[in-house]
Amino acid sequence: MRALVTGGAGFIGSNVVDALLARGDEVAVVDDLSTGRIENLEGALAAGAIFHQLDIRDADAVTTASEAARPEVVFHFAAQMDVRRSLADPAFDASVNVVGTINVLEAAHASGARRLINTSTGGAIYGETDVMPTPETVAAAPVSAYGQSKQCAELYCAWAGRARGLETVTLRYGNVYGPRQDPGGEAGVIAIFAGRLLSGEQPTVYGDGSARRDYTFVDDIVAANLLAAAQSMPGGPYNVGTGIDSSVLELIEAIDAAAAPGEAPLKPEFAAAREGELQRSSLDVSLARDELGFSAATDLKKGVAATVEALRDGS
Ligand SMILES: NC(=O)c1ccc[n+]([C@@H]2O[C@H](COP(=O)([O-])OP(=O)(O)OC[C@H]3O[C@@H](n4cnc5c(N)ncnc54)[C@H](O)[C@@H]3O)[C@@H](O)[C@H]2O)c1
Repeated sequence: MRALVTGGAGFIGSNVVDALLARGDEVAVVDDLSTGRIENLEGALAAGAIFHQLDIRDADAVTTASEAARPEVVFHFAAQMDVRRSLADPAFDASVNVVGTINVLEAAHASGARRLINTSTGGAIYGETDVMPTPETVAAAPVSAYGQSKQCAELYCAWAGRARGLETVTLRYGNVYGPRQDPGGEAGVIAIFAGRLLSGEQPTVYGDGSARRDYTFVDDIVAANLLAAAQSMPGGPYNVGTGIDSSVLELIEAIDAAAAPGEAPLKPEFAAAREGELQRSSLDVSLARDELGFSAATDLKKGVAATVEALRDGS
């Protein structure tokens, strides 16, 4: 298969790129390297992937890259995903996540792609709800501008199906973690805390540590993307997670359990909860199981141990 991966130099995108190349697909990557790293593509470039450094807000540039790649399937990961930045500058957030997504949809269609796999968020899209775990039938009511722009992008994907005949499948992830997530980034509490374990610094917990999320290992997210690309009739949106939510304090326990001799257990410092952050997010993943045949294979303990190990090895 020929694939185009936007945001392919990022954490999740680069893991998908590697999986596609490993099964023999031809891969082109689009990324502006704003948060992604070219080092994430080292193996991929050596294996023949083509890299286009560009901003998805530039419609002509995306179309030119997509026409060169002639992808059958586009995997769309490029996004502004900093929740705090989205609240400080919602127009910038929308320029990347909404207008950028429209540009990618139009480029996919213009270059003859059959399907686009869209990346959304189960963590941010539902907002505060009493329905736990939350199925896809609960109406989106995002609190952050990031969740709002992701909902809008989902709607444009559905529009591209109606207006352009482009198949789209939206996957709404839980909190993804694993190798290559930036320990110095804004998101990715497991990467940040694992980084602190190795540096001997202490992590800051915003709130009292009881906030719960569905932490999902990146290999499982890769598997869901491959299933969505192969699905005979596009469905969704699908929640993609483990179906189990864990508290921040439970995370810290899992990270401490992965400590090597000589690495001191984390002693978190507590600070006020942050604006736009939910107290609990728990995803009902039965639709993805029933329709995509997806179930997460990696539990928190195993995934955290693999993440800490990869960070220690510098991989
Ligand atoms: N990490 C999570 O927990 C999580 C959860 C739900 C959804 N998501 C979604 O998954 C996708 C990938 O996230 P990630 O965790 O790998 O983050 P990431 O920051 O590592 O990846 C995003 C990539 O997009 C690129 N990018 C950003 N703006 C761009 C632009 N204007 N033009 C071209 N490229 C641009 C960045 O350089 C980066 O490589 C995003 O769409 C994000 O919203 C992530």
